[in-house]
Amino acid sequence: MIDLSVHVDGLRLANPFIIASGPPSTNANVIARAFDEGWGGVVCKTIVLDSTKIVNVSPRYARWRVGDEVVGWENIELISDRPIEVWEEEFRALKTRYPGRVLIASVMEEYRRAAWHEVVERMQRAGADAIELNMSCPHGLPERRMGSAMGQSPEVLREVCGWVREVARVPVCAKMTPNVTSMVDVAVAAVEGGCHGISAINTVLSVMGIDLDTLRPVPTVEGMTTPGGYSGRAVKPIALRMAMEIARAVGGRASLSAIGGVESGGDAAEFVLLGASTVQVCTGVMVHGYGLVRELERGLRAFMDRHGFRTIEDFRGRSLKYFTSHAELVARKHGGKSGQDAAWSAERLVEQVEDEAT
Ligand SMILES: Cc1cc2nc3c(=O)[nH]c(=O)nc-3n(C[C@H](O)[C@H](O)[C@H](O)COP(=O)(O)O)c2cc1C
Repeated sequence: MIDLSVHVDGLRLANPFIIASGPPSTNANVIARAFDEGWGGVVCKTIVLDSTKIVNVSPRYARWRVGDEVVGWENIELISDRPIEVWEEEFRALKTRYPGRVLIASVMEEYRRAAWHEVVERMQRAGADAIELNMSCPHGLPERRMGSAMGQSPEVLREVCGWVREVARVPVCAKMTPNVTSMVDVAVAAVEGGCHGISAINTVLSVMGIDLDTLRPVPTVEGMTTPGGYSGRAVKPIALRMAMEIARAVGGRASLSAIGGVESGGDAAEFVLLGASTVQVCTGVMVHGYGLVRELERGLRAFMDRHGFRTIEDFRGRSLKYFTSHAELVARKHGGKSGQDAAWSAERLVEQVEDEAT
């Protein structure tokens, strides 16, 4: 018997699949749809205290297609432009209708302690099972020193996570931006600030392309664009690398909710093998619909069945031990030679080839 349920940070999910913050979690109607289809949890579209400052543009999406398939997606969409009062009502209604489902409030604020206190207190009073701190939106908000502008500074991150923990009575996780030099530094800072978990990754800052007829970059708004956030299948290798780094750095101290390009049960299994307890999906749902959760469950069960795993914990983090330094790969490849000797001989080989070429 295979059991897909997950216990993490005091919460129980029927399966490890969570709708990530974004269009598939933009209001109560679609969140209810996700629960009806069988998703283990939902992170709502990011909420801010003053939504009047959130002004979206259109078009705000650009897709990269290979044949008929969407492999990458860029967006310049901002966080939720719906008032927090509406969200509070919707959280209450959703928790009444789906008491056993995990509903996570994604929140973002300016660098002000009182604002973070208020947004967290209001959403937990409205019934949020956990709080996800959006420290990672890469476009629009950083101009106001929010989102990834905060998530790129370990000092600010540590301080803001600490403010949140002063009032939080539910588990708190920080959602990280991949647009950093060292994921380890920011993940460690969030955990030092008191976060119970890390969610990663948000979108990768990108320029989707240039229209060769008009010479304008896309998505084009009144003839112009601004760099946006890249997601979907194309970002999975980057997300896997960052999941591995986070798990190795803070694995014993914080949970990991992995995000980035998940579209199959096999994708989810890969993230769990690198230490994730849950897996979030945004673009996959926009491309394939909410019914994707059944395919995710089927694929994950098939993988577990093949290996004789009965629970998620049976294989969580199993592949982390297969990462090492390049020098050790060289040493292993070249038998008795020490890694450093072999690396040096590889370097000499490169020099020789370069000499011969000049
Ligand atoms: C159109 C769009 C809007 C998004 N809005 C939010 C948001 O409001 N808050 C947030 O934390 N992440 C947001 N995200 C990021 C996703 O939650 C997710 O981290 C990212 O897209 C990578 O996962 P994926 O490849 O499954 O989409 C958004 C992503 C997309 C594509």
